[in-house]
Amino acid sequence: MIVNRLIVIYPLMKKYDFRAAVVGTRTAVPVLGGGKKRYINFDNAASTPAFKAVTRSLDKFIQYYSSVHRGTGYKSVVSTWAYDQAHLDSLRFVGADPEYFTSILMKNTTDAINKLARRLDFKSGDIVLSSLMEHHSNDLPWRVQARTEYIEIDDTGHLDIDDLKRKLKKYGRKVKLVAITAASNVTGLIPPVNEIARLAHSAGAKILVDAAQIVAHRQVRMGVPGEPESADYLVFSAHKMYAPFGIGVLIGPKETFKAGDPDSVGGGTVNFVTTSDIQWAHLPDKEEAGSPNVPGAVALSAAINALETIGFSKIAAHEKELTRYALKKLSAYEEIELYGPDRWIQGEDRVGVIAFNITGIYHAVVAAILSYEGAIAVRNGCFCAHPYIQRLLRISDEEAIDYRDDISDGIRLKVPGMIRVSFGIYNTKSEIDRFMKIIEMIIRGKYKGEYSVDKRSGEAHPAGFEFKNDIRF
Ligand SMILES: Cc1ncc(COP(=O)(O)O)c(C=O)c1O
Repeated sequence: MIVNRLIVIYPLMKKYDFRAAVVGTRTAVPVLGGGKKRYINFDNAASTPAFKAVTRSLDKFIQYYSSVHRGTGYKSVVSTWAYDQAHLDSLRFVGADPEYFTSILMKNTTDAINKLARRLDFKSGDIVLSSLMEHHSNDLPWRVQARTEYIEIDDTGHLDIDDLKRKLKKYGRKVKLVAITAASNVTGLIPPVNEIARLAHSAGAKILVDAAQIVAHRQVRMGVPGEPESADYLVFSAHKMYAPFGIGVLIGPKETFKAGDPDSVGGGTVNFVTTSDIQWAHLPDKEEAGSPNVPGAVALSAAINALETIGFSKIAAHEKELTRYALKKLSAYEEIELYGPDRWIQGEDRVGVIAFNITGIYHAVVAAILSYEGAIAVRNGCFCAHPYIQRLLRISDEEAIDYRDDISDGIRLKVPGMIRVSFGIYNTKSEIDRFMKIIEMIIRGKYKGEYSVDKRSGEAHPAGFEFKNDIRF
C-alpha cells in the first residue's frame, strides 16, 4: 500500500477554488452577545461537509431512485447500475484490482472493521497487533474476536517500529493480522504503512489499513496483491470525504469472503434457499444483507470523482500549507502545548490534524469559547482514542482509574483531553487567522462569557446564553 509522497511545486500550480467545491461555506451562525458570524469548520477529521458535486449528483439520482437488484423497472435498472458502479469506483479509488479484491459497502469505517473482525476466522491463541495510536474503531472490534496486543508509540506520538519488530518476533506465527491506521485522528501523524506491511507479511501476518483519516487527503494505493508492501484489507468512510450520506467501504480479497457464512444474513445474501439448504449469493451481495443505501453509494461515487478531478497533489499541497501555517502560529505561544511533533518537520508527511491544550484552561472551555464567541467548530476530549491520549498526556494507569471512577459516578468535570483542529480542502489561512485571534483572546483572558462546565456532560456553556433550536428542515 502506498501513500504517495508527492513532490509538489505549489506556486507553479493553478489555484483551484476549493471553497467553491463545498456546500455551506457561507453559513453564518449566532454568537454570544448577539449577531451572527460566518461559521468556520475545523472539525473535518470527525466529518466533512458535502461536495456540491455530491449534492448535485444526489438531486439528479433521486429522480431515478428505486430498489436495486432483481427490480425489473427502468429505475431499478438505473439504480442497480449506479450501485454497482460505486463498488467499482471505490476499488479504482484505492487502486484495488477488481479481479482480486471485492468492495463491500457498509455504514462506515467502524461497521466495516466490525464485519472484517467477525469474518476473519480467528482460532484460539491467534493475535491481532493493533497500536496505541488507533481510534477505538480499530481496536475494540479486534478485542472482541481475538487476543489483541498493541504496538507502542514514542514520546512524540510516532509509532515505534522497533516495538512492532519485537512483537512480531515474540509472537511469531500467532500474529494473524496487523491492524494499523494510515493517519492518526489525534496528531495527524502518518505511520510508515508500506514498511509495516512488509514487516507484517514477512512474519506471515495480513495487514488491515484503517484509511478513514487519509483517503480525502492523500492518494492511497493498495498495491499488487502478494507484494510485500501491499495492503490486504482497507476501510474508509464516505462522510470523511465530502459525502456524508451513510456509507463506508471494506475492501479485501474475494477469497476471504467466499469462505464461510456471512456474519449478517437475510435478504439479498442468497441465490437459493430451501428450508434445509442455503446457497450464498456472489460477492459483494453475500456480505451486504438487506436493502442497501443506494443514495449513499451514489454520493460516494460522486465524491471519489470530485477528489480525483481536483487531484491529490493540489489537495495535499493546500492542506500541508494550512497545517504548517497553523502549527507555526500555535507554537509561538508558550501557553500552548502541542501534542505529537510540536512543529512542522521538513520532509515528514502529516495530515491536517493538530491537537493542543492551553495551560490552565480546561479543554471544554476553550472549545466552547471558540464556538460561542468565534463561531468556530473544533473538537475537544479524547477523540475516541483513549489509550493514545493517555500516553500523550502522560496519565498514569492509577490516574486513569480515578478518572474512570469519576465518569462511572457521572462526574465529568475534569476529564483529561485536548482541543483538536482538523482541516479540509476548503479551509483557508484567513480562517486560521480568525481562529488565532480567539486563541489569543483566551490566553489573555479577554473573552466575553462566563463559562461553567456541566458536571454530567462535561460540556462548557456561557452563563445566560444558549443556541436556540429554531431551524426547521
Ligand atoms: C482513524 C479513524 N478510524 C476510524 C474511525 C471511525 O470512523 P466512522 O465513525 O466513520 O466509523 C475514525 C473516526 O473518526 C477515525 O478517525
